[in-house]
Amino acid sequence: MSLEAVLARIDADLENSTNRLLELLRIRSISTDPAYKSECDAAADWLVKDLQSLGVDAQKRPTPGHPMVVGHVDGDGPHVLFYGHYDVQPVDPLNLWDRDPFDPALEDTKNGKVIRGRGASDDKGQLMTFVEACRSWKAEHGSLPCKITFFFEGEEESGSPSLVPFMQENADELRSDIVLICDTGLFQSKTPAIVTMLRGLLGEEIIITGPNKDLHSGMYGGVARNPIRVLTRVLASLHDDTGRITVPDFYDGVHELDPDMAAQWNALNFDHGTFLGDVGLGLPAGEVGRTPLEMIWSQPTCEINGINGGYTGDGFKTVLPSLASAKVSFRLVGDQDPLKIRENFRAMVRGMIPSDCQVAFKPHGASRASVMATDAAEFEAARGALSDEFPDAAAFVGCGGSIPIAGHFQNITGVNPMLIGFAKDDDQIHSPNEKYDLDSFHKGMRSWARILDAVARK
Ligand code: BES
Ligand code: ZN
Repeated sequence: MSLEAVLARIDADLENSTNRLLELLRIRSISTDPAYKSECDAAADWLVKDLQSLGVDAQKRPTPGHPMVVGHVDGDGPHVLFYGHYDVQPVDPLNLWDRDPFDPALEDTKNGKVIRGRGASDDKGQLMTFVEACRSWKAEHGSLPCKITFFFEGEEESGSPSLVPFMQENADELRSDIVLICDTGLFQSKTPAIVTMLRGLLGEEIIITGPNKDLHSGMYGGVARNPIRVLTRVLASLHDDTGRITVPDFYDGVHELDPDMAAQWNALNFDHGTFLGDVGLGLPAGEVGRTPLEMIWSQPTCEINGINGGYTGDGFKTVLPSLASAKVSFRLVGDQDPLKIRENFRAMVRGMIPSDCQVAFKPHGASRASVMATDAAEFEAARGALSDEFPDAAAFVGCGGSIPIAGHFQNITGVNPMLIGFAKDDDQIHSPNEKYDLDSFHKGMRSWARILDAVARK
């Protein structure tokens, strides 16, 4: 079967495939907000219909949360499972968007054409690169080169509460020879990447209560304990002056990078000046003595993602608040144990709370880091296929973000997933004005066609 013909069809169909993606992007599938439940359902329905139009036996599968979409199609080659997520992040702050996030469009920018809208990059655009590659293959050859299972989730951006039970209950159906996940990025515009290390994630909310009501800070200030002061002391103590995280035993299970990997990463010549310069910064802020790539890929973090308390509206109010809270997340690497870290973190915080204040904790997910062994033949096949499509050869890289399903595949169906994606660092995922380069979409489709061809032949 000719790959060239499939690639040519992908090129010729680009306007139509872009329009199909725009249709999916118009559906407001924000998974974390219950107000959008029916929209999540609608996105699942759209995908089921789209897969059925490719001859895939696809169904919307209920869960206690948002539905999964599972589809199967027969083919000769190895059995490939493809995963992507159809849910998106909330759009606020809406005033920072230059267009309605759910009225997506193709825009001309100084760096070429982009598809602008919530989910364009994370992850609807990426998910559709694979579906579209299959569409062109099917149109050209009447069948697909591999047996394929499609697996789309609608809760990835809200911690995937239904995922593990669903995967366990349907483990036989989700078993495959190869797992492909499209939810990551290129290393650089010209350099595609296969992610071999993903960080885990632990989320914790701290809620500190002091006085039993808000107080006048003139009447009570100085004598009454201010929970914001208690909270900020706690938060300021989470790192020492060298950038190390101070939670007891936090670094248990963090391994130094092996020299081979360190050499590979050094050879990537990562330009941290541009990486930080693009977001208006210049000084790496992680642990002293670490390279920027280590800070993002192989070292753990502790970040404060939000703080609440007191009067934050316009103007000024001399209030001594009753309550202060913060959301804190830890990115985890190696064999760090999220549950042990949660316990140690809570004990450390409790130890800093004065006896007339209270602290409560709310957990927000806990996943371990995962490392993908790359010795299976399909990793080399995919690396070759990506290198054929892009100017530079594909790199094996780490990823600072977290995709817990990678570890679930390892544990439940025993497959090391291949994480391949076409997003760029400036896609503004989770932020206002999210975009996906038309070139990412186009090369993404072409890459999947090449990868399917390569793994079918191997
Ligand atoms: N697609 C991202 C993961 C990602 C982020 C890949 C950055 C490459 C670069 C994914 O949808 C995501 O945002 N995951 C969450 C984790 C989840 C448990 C909420 C994350 O990393 O914060
Ligand atoms: Zn994503």
